[in-house]
Amino acid sequence: MSSQIDNLLTENRRFAPSADFAAAAVAGPDLYERAQEDREGFWAAQSRELLHWQEPFTQVLDWSTPPFAKWFADGELNIAYNCLDRHVEAGNGDRVALLWEGEPGDERRVTYAELTEEVKRLANVLTELGIGEGDRVALYLPMIPEAIASMLAVARIGAIHSVVFGGFSADSLRSRIDDAGAKLVITADGGWRKGKVSPLKPAVDQALSDRGDGVQSTVEHVLVVRRGENDVAWTEGRDLWWHDVVPAASPEHEARAFPAENPLFILYTSGTTGKPKGILHTSGGYLTQAAYTHRNVFDLKPETDVYWCTADIGWITGHSYVAYGPLANGATQVLYEGTPEHPEPGRWWDIIEKYGVTIFYTAPTAIRGFMKQGRVIPQARDLSSLRVLGSVGEPINPEAWVWYRDVIGAGTTPIVDTWWQTETGAIMISALPGVTETKPGSAQVALPGISIDVVDEQGSHVGAGGGGLLVITEPWPSMLRGIWGDPERYKETYWDKFGSQGWYFAGDGARLDEDGDIWLLGRVDDVMNVSGHRLSTAEIESSLVAHEATAEAAVVGASDETTGQAVVAFVILKESYLKQHGPDGLAQQLRGWVGEQIGPIARPRDVYIVGELPKTRSGKIMRRLLRDVAEGREVGDTTTLADTAVMSVISAQVR
Ligand code: WT7
Repeated sequence: MSSQIDNLLTENRRFAPSADFAAAAVAGPDLYERAQEDREGFWAAQSRELLHWQEPFTQVLDWSTPPFAKWFADGELNIAYNCLDRHVEAGNGDRVALLWEGEPGDERRVTYAELTEEVKRLANVLTELGIGEGDRVALYLPMIPEAIASMLAVARIGAIHSVVFGGFSADSLRSRIDDAGAKLVITADGGWRKGKVSPLKPAVDQALSDRGDGVQSTVEHVLVVRRGENDVAWTEGRDLWWHDVVPAASPEHEARAFPAENPLFILYTSGTTGKPKGILHTSGGYLTQAAYTHRNVFDLKPETDVYWCTADIGWITGHSYVAYGPLANGATQVLYEGTPEHPEPGRWWDIIEKYGVTIFYTAPTAIRGFMKQGRVIPQARDLSSLRVLGSVGEPINPEAWVWYRDVIGAGTTPIVDTWWQTETGAIMISALPGVTETKPGSAQVALPGISIDVVDEQGSHVGAGGGGLLVITEPWPSMLRGIWGDPERYKETYWDKFGSQGWYFAGDGARLDEDGDIWLLGRVDDVMNVSGHRLSTAEIESSLVAHEATAEAAVVGASDETTGQAVVAFVILKESYLKQHGPDGLAQQLRGWVGEQIGPIARPRDVYIVGELPKTRSGKIMRRLLRDVAEGREVGDTTTLADTAVMSVISAQVR
């Protein structure tokens, strides 16, 4: 990490907002002043301005039983009404909500009126299937309009969705369905990826199949969208086609008001242990901050902007900045089903040109990938409609930042580097376009209404120029409300480290520069960040040891030019297995095994078969030393190892 800090310290390019942009910007410097004067009053005002409350709230924050927060607790609202009906009632029913493009090139334009009607029909279907307030519905879908409609219909009836990324395996889907006790799964036959149909329904069938332990799945029905037109197996009585039931349902549906703290969704994310955590978000505070950040951070002008966030709805970015934020704000957005390089590497730039995208939000890993392909590809397209560019998911290195601004943003667009997490629900640290002078590589400042600090292990402020741990010092509206079914783990993971101060520990290292701006330095725990996706070392290790050949495994995140970090595994094989089969082809097999067990994103870049792992006298694996090997560095201090010779053996084996 120290070489990274040195690099960042030498970065001193600055980009002031243009006078024109500043004059027309949605956000002004006054936001900071207002939030500073009265934080809770500021959030209350934002919430009243941005949302429709059927029952207005009188309380703002209830922090009487920390770390369990309640925001706007006595207010009532309907999330789907806020994202849909009210725009239609305001006369904007003909505005396009979704400019959808399938990977094969098919298109659909869905207006706010059409999306509202579809969601009302689906809400009626869900109710007929016995789904009610508080029930869990798992979604396992490609990026198609039905995915957005499903999230909103579940929200409309006060149920809870759990979106599972379509790239996750049947096993991962199963554990998420089981943990949440889902009653319904909404899926598709398949979706288009890299020029072919990638099936989804078979994974659902497998996830719900009898696992031989006599335990029945909680799932009663599977609702299936036809998209890939691939053949699928069918379970009569359980499975239903979307096109049979949704168009036949009534388009009338009244949006009932639910309390602000009604759960809205669970989203699973990796932690430091093997079992993914079900992060729980609720309604009123979440939608307030999603709408507020989407409007101010992206300078959204819903009448004229065409917004595009490339995230999949399987991640938090897809929840807050594809589904909820943009729709609450009545935005017009692009929704694209496929991969960036299909049928050729300029696909994204074609989409920007075709739809006249004005605001574009993507991840550093994608930007670095495009940088490698060269500027000729984007420069062959007209990208002049772009006026704001966003980045999310991991630290963006200054070179990629500057390339993004120069090549994609014509050297003029502001760039917002947005720091946040699944747990924070919405953006927490970012420049404001038109307000902030930007610095390549720094996420910069806490948003108005958000309180952030960088402290040392003891909790002392490091002050300008210092490095330490990122903490959030005041509760915020879209904060997670807990981990599904595990309040203890919620406290331990986020609140115990700085328990006496009552701060939220984010798990990220950070540095403050001379101006007090924040530079994120990556995770300080055993969580890896691969292409902006969070993976747990423990989860991949337990997958590896579940293979019959493996005796022991250690996984580290090694820095990688394109993906930020890459998964590198060190594996000790079982003697008995080696005697029978030998080691040939095993590294390759183990990579595939992890890919199948968890999902392709978790597949290790490298698997090294080694004879021993570096351990302390108390038996703790020293991943730091393995990371040195994986990154091709000289191995660091080995004096605390039980057997100091181990590292030279491993280095030799890896070479
Ligand atoms: C972790 C959260 C937020 C949606 C996508 C990822 C890293 C995220 C940034 C950024 C530096 C970032 C952090 C964080 N991260 N955005 N702009 N600069 N690091 O959500 O999967 O919950 O991961 O991603 O390490 O803790 P997530």
